[in-house]
Amino acid sequence: MQELMKSNDVDYIIIDSEKLLNETEEGLSRVIGIVDNLRSFSRVDEEAEKGEVDIHKCIDSTLKIIESKIKYNCNIVKDYGESITVKGEAGKLNQVFMNLLVNASQAIDDQGEIRIKTEVRDNKAIIKISDTGKGIEDKHLETIFDPFFTTKKVGEGTGLGLSIVYGVIEEHCGKISVSSQVGVGTTFKIVLPSFVS
Ligand SMILES: Nc1ncnc2c1ncn2[C@@H]1O[C@H](COP(=O)(O)OP(=O)(O)OP(=O)(O)O)[C@@H](O)[C@H]1O
Ligand SMILES: [Mg+2]
Repeated sequence: MQELMKSNDVDYIIIDSEKLLNETEEGLSRVIGIVDNLRSFSRVDEEAEKGEVDIHKCIDSTLKIIESKIKYNCNIVKDYGESITVKGEAGKLNQVFMNLLVNASQAIDDQGEIRIKTEVRDNKAIIKISDTGKGIEDKHLETIFDPFFTTKKVGEGTGLGLSIVYGVIEEHCGKISVSSQVGVGTTFKIVLPSFVS
């Protein structure tokens, strides 16, 4: 029996399997966290109807999804004002923030800052997403919201991100505008009717 245990490395298997099971448990907890974030991001548990959407929650859950990808070169600064509720579809609004934040991070080559500022003024929610990236040339400012307009390499961008953003904001009776300076950075400003209960 002892010989058999020795020849099959049973001691090692016992020690190693404890380590393996601990690592598996840790891995599973991470999977649970990722799936939870994806569920709250896509709102699969909710009906895709217009409801009351907490804008800060939307931005935070989007940030959680993309943070691991962008945290190395982007310092993310949140400058949130009072809590904002709008009438809308959380899944679609998440997509808006995702597209804008990914664009901002892609505009930053080395190291930079992405600032998210929110405020409520005259029953309107104002959300500004600014980056210290490479900026947008004047001649492109008119076309960036057009479907398939991209300055990115083939395979890197489809040019659909901002056209989706534009459509969703319009659906929510809002407005989006952009200001940019080459070499300094870009700010996207969204104005949405805010919900007053
Ligand atoms: N924050 C930004 N800074 C600099 N340029 C930007 C920024 N956001 C958008 N752009 C410019 O607008 C173009 C269109 O953006 P859009 O998100 O629609 O498409 P994309 O990012 O190129 O591709 P996709 O989003 O489909 O992967 C970009 O290619 C880029 O030139
Ligand atoms: Mg994009």
